[in-house]
Amino acid sequence: MRSFGSKSLSVLALAAQVTGLGVEKRGFDVFQYVDPFIGTSNGGHVFPGATLPFGMAKAVADIDDPNEKQGGFASGDSDITGFSHMHDSGTGGSPSLGNFPFFPQSGCPEDLVDNCFFTKTDRASKRINGTAEAHPGYFAVSLNTSIHTEMTVSNHTALYRLTFSKNATTAQNTPLPSSPLILFDLTDLPDSRINGSIAVDEKTGRITGNGTFSPSFGLGTYDLHFCADFSGAAIRDTGVFMNNRAGSQPKSLRAVQNGNSPPTPAGAWTQFKEPANDQLLVRVGVSFISVEKACNNAQTEIPEFDFDKVLQSAEDAWRDKLSVLEIDATGVSEELQTIFWSGVYRAMISPQDYTGENPLWESDEPYYDSYYCIWDSARSIHPLLTLLDPHSQTLMVRSLIDIYRHEGKLPDCRMSLCKGYTQGGSNADIVLADAYLKNITEGVDWETGYEAVVSDAEDEPVDWAVEGRGGLASWKSLGYIPTDDFDPSGGGGLFTRSISRTVEYAYNDFCIAEMAKGLGKTADAEKYLARSNNWKNMYKADQKSYVNGSNAYPDSTVDSGFVGFLQPRYLNGTFGYQDPSFCSPLLSFTSCYLNPDGHETYEGSSWLYTFFVPQDMSSLITTLGGPTSFVSRLTYLHTSGLLYIGDEQAFLPVFQFHYAGRPALSALTSHSYIPSQFNTSVSGLAGNDDSGAMGSFIALSMLGLWPVPGQDVYLITPPYFPSISLTNRQTGKTATVRNVGFDAGYENLYIQSATLNGKPWTKNWLDHSFWLEGGTLELVLGKNESLWGTTDGDLPPSSSGGW
Ligand SMILES: *[C@@H]1O[C@H](CO)[C@@H](O)[C@H](O)[C@H]1NC(C)=O
Ligand SMILES: *[C@@H]1O[C@H](CO)[C@@H](O)[C@H](O)[C@H]1NC(C)=O
Ligand SMILES: *[C@@H]1O[C@H](CO)[C@@H](O)[C@H](O)[C@H]1NC(C)=O
Ligand SMILES: *[C@@H]1O[C@H](CO)[C@@H](O)[C@H](O)[C@H]1NC(C)=O
Ligand SMILES: *[C@@H]1O[C@H](CO)[C@@H](O)[C@H](O)[C@H]1NC(C)=O
Ligand SMILES: *[C@@H]1O[C@H](CO)[C@@H](O)[C@H](O)[C@H]1NC(C)=O
Ligand SMILES: *[C@@H]1O[C@H](CO)[C@@H](O)[C@H](O)[C@H]1NC(C)=O
Ligand SMILES: *[C@@H]1O[C@H](CO)[C@@H](O)[C@H](O)[C@H]1NC(C)=O
Ligand SMILES: *[C@@H]1O[C@H](CO)[C@@H](O)[C@H](O)[C@H]1NC(C)=O
Ligand SMILES: *[C@@H]1O[C@H](CO)[C@@H](O)[C@H](O)[C@H]1NC(C)=O
Ligand SMILES: *[C@@H]1O[C@H](CO)[C@@H](O)[C@H](O)[C@H]1NC(C)=O
Repeated sequence: MRSFGSKSLSVLALAAQVTGLGVEKRGFDVFQYVDPFIGTSNGGHVFPGATLPFGMAKAVADIDDPNEKQGGFASGDSDITGFSHMHDSGTGGSPSLGNFPFFPQSGCPEDLVDNCFFTKTDRASKRINGTAEAHPGYFAVSLNTSIHTEMTVSNHTALYRLTFSKNATTAQNTPLPSSPLILFDLTDLPDSRINGSIAVDEKTGRITGNGTFSPSFGLGTYDLHFCADFSGAAIRDTGVFMNNRAGSQPKSLRAVQNGNSPPTPAGAWTQFKEPANDQLLVRVGVSFISVEKACNNAQTEIPEFDFDKVLQSAEDAWRDKLSVLEIDATGVSEELQTIFWSGVYRAMISPQDYTGENPLWESDEPYYDSYYCIWDSARSIHPLLTLLDPHSQTLMVRSLIDIYRHEGKLPDCRMSLCKGYTQGGSNADIVLADAYLKNITEGVDWETGYEAVVSDAEDEPVDWAVEGRGGLASWKSLGYIPTDDFDPSGGGGLFTRSISRTVEYAYNDFCIAEMAKGLGKTADAEKYLARSNNWKNMYKADQKSYVNGSNAYPDSTVDSGFVGFLQPRYLNGTFGYQDPSFCSPLLSFTSCYLNPDGHETYEGSSWLYTFFVPQDMSSLITTLGGPTSFVSRLTYLHTSGLLYIGDEQAFLPVFQFHYAGRPALSALTSHSYIPSQFNTSVSGLAGNDDSGAMGSFIALSMLGLWPVPGQDVYLITPPYFPSISLTNRQTGKTATVRNVGFDAGYENLYIQSATLNGKPWTKNWLDHSFWLEGGTLELVLGKNESLWGTTDGDLPPSSSGGW
């Protein structure tokens, strides 16, 4: 997914120019290579704050720039309006979460509470340039009000350490009294509060509250609760505020939906006497269940306000997660190592573990949330998690199946306990099949998992905007989603994207066929395999594509020379027309979101979607005129400006050269995007990070084995390092991929020969047993393309080839 608004695109570099000093392995500290600020500018929307892997508490300073605040904080110099405890990372849509921010002030001018700043607008403060600092589990930034803020987290609790200066002044340089005031605001990042309630305890200063809010890319509302305690100074006074007026009576207030947008500022505050050592600790527990649970979470997880101890366990949790990978990076630039490790890190921020925090149903199953969105994450995040953290992936799969049990459908997107919008197919089918094929078994009820994917394929929900699929009657009778579909049984979805939905539904059905086969449901396997051929029904063999030749003649077009594209098709069987480059960066790139206007592809062109036949690339290649023609077409896609790597459908085509017997070109193409489109600058990623989707693309590309999502297939390209090793946490076995003849300038990019555990390996792909059983894949590299992996017998499987 990418957010609305145009993006400037830089021209593709054909080969990566890699510079930088090599590093030595000794004294390796992985945190040195994790930069949480990558993607915190220019629409990356990355959350750079403190979180545990998949943790629910995510603490960071929130800014006020409406285009950049999706993840809370962003680089640049926008003002900070508060510090809040829950976030999503890298999302498009509107900003997410950021509920109940607090804001500290050193003292109130003239020592009058009413003179402190209460509303977001009034209190917005500049950061001090260069003070923002972050590593896994930690975030810090200084405000221009002479307050230094630091934060760390446990699973459901944020802990903040505030350091005040004795000589803080007002903007007019009048000294402020040393009597800090901390307010909590009944708001969230998107200003979506509907109802809210807050109270302060005059003895302890504890502030508790709740609110009803809206999700950022979905339907309905959610209730959230918090519980804040303080340590480090004696309580001086307490009270509430509304708008910019505050008083020490009453001690609680209730805000109801009054139609104001943004909602009326309201909250509570605690004022302190001078802190003993200039520091105050603020502990904020959060819960979707109740205030009591929020307090209990905080007390249980962080009983002692020991900042360094909490930070240490957060750091330990991250080091442990990352320790499954061992990389020999001899000669590889610091830049590329940072790109890699930061990508791995970002892929483990979400989905978020809300187990025990789900008020919607009683269950002993795990509950994860912030699947934001599966349309994005199915393609690389979940396959990556299966490798790095199969236990968490197992819990996520169980949670998806439990969502099906209680909501009636798998989600395609979900955040804040609400159903999120579906962008194309029912792509949880891909996640489930991928897991099913890769030994994700522990406690997974695969019969119910299978029932869930079949429900996607068979039973159309009324509101297919948020679950399942639309157009199923036509899908079953005609074998495609007609562009003018008649679908009276489902009024909820937008009647657009008929092409992209058709190819996604076809692939979803293939994934169901794989599961059916594994579960011994032969008739189902045949049925869904047949339906997976439906992509052909929207293929128009004589369709040409004239592409905007804007370089030479801005207003004219040139014949791309390629014939045969997916095209709109009506109920009566005749084809319509959508320019094959429409929705690409070359033509109306930003017109193809979930908007109701006529566009039959989603966030990408027919050019791109015509390649989306992962189940049967062999037939696609034949359809498109054979391997040579296919390779020129795929090369054209990558070099003409038609493809934007910032949208997740672009990932697989980087590696699809494998299917035409040209694995060398996949390696070359991967290097054309990394590092040119993914680097260590704050704007160093294409599009939105989408909960780490871009990070996972980087991680998997650089590891060198690209998983075809939903299949037990990894396409082999050389790792970006001399060698990589991954220890599987299910089996304890270590798999190593070693490059022989590695050069850090990436001229030796092409595999000449390969051995697996000492025996020749000629296939250009392998399966998950490599990771489970361990072993060594050795790749001999050279400067020129070789015959390795090029013959028919070397190619990855296709459904038409005896699957
Ligand atoms: C802080 O940095 C931003 C760029 O991130 C710059 O625009 C701004 O002028 C700087 N402010 C100061 C006070 O140096
Ligand atoms: C801090 O920054 C804000 C926002 O620019 C400004 O209004 C305020 O006066 C500044 N405060 C101080 C103490 O400089
Ligand atoms: C956070 O929760 C996870 C999953 O329940 C658990 O394994 C982990 O130990 C917890 N981490 C901390 C630091 O408490
Ligand atoms: C307090 O202000 C004095 C000068 O007014 C300055 O020298 C000193 O560095 C300041 N102290 C802090 C902690 O900011
Ligand atoms: C908000 O509160 C009002 C008054 O208590 C109630 O009628 C309404 O249902 C609440 N709205 C939501 C979305 O909870
Ligand atoms: C929020 O708290 C108030 C006061 O305790 C309570 O009346 C209200 O029901 C709570 N609302 C929710 C959504 O939990
Ligand atoms: C070609 O691109 C230019 C510049 O973006 C645009 O003004 C023009 O309308 C395009 N022409 C066609 C036929 O797409
Ligand atoms: C088929 O339907 C389309 C869309 O309604 C219409 O434009 C076209 O003329 C029809 N073709 C035939 C042969 O009926
Ligand atoms: C870094 O990545 C961004 C986002 O893709 C890109 O716009 C920029 O050109 C890249 N910078 C460099 C120096 O390659
Ligand atoms: C599959 O995973 C389980 C743990 O979930 C493990 O015990 C078993 O060894 C794995 N099976 C294979 C074939 O690797
Ligand atoms: C590699 O290819 C280049 C030209 O494509 C050729 O000049 C060179 O001899 C080849 N090198 C080897 C080792 O085959």
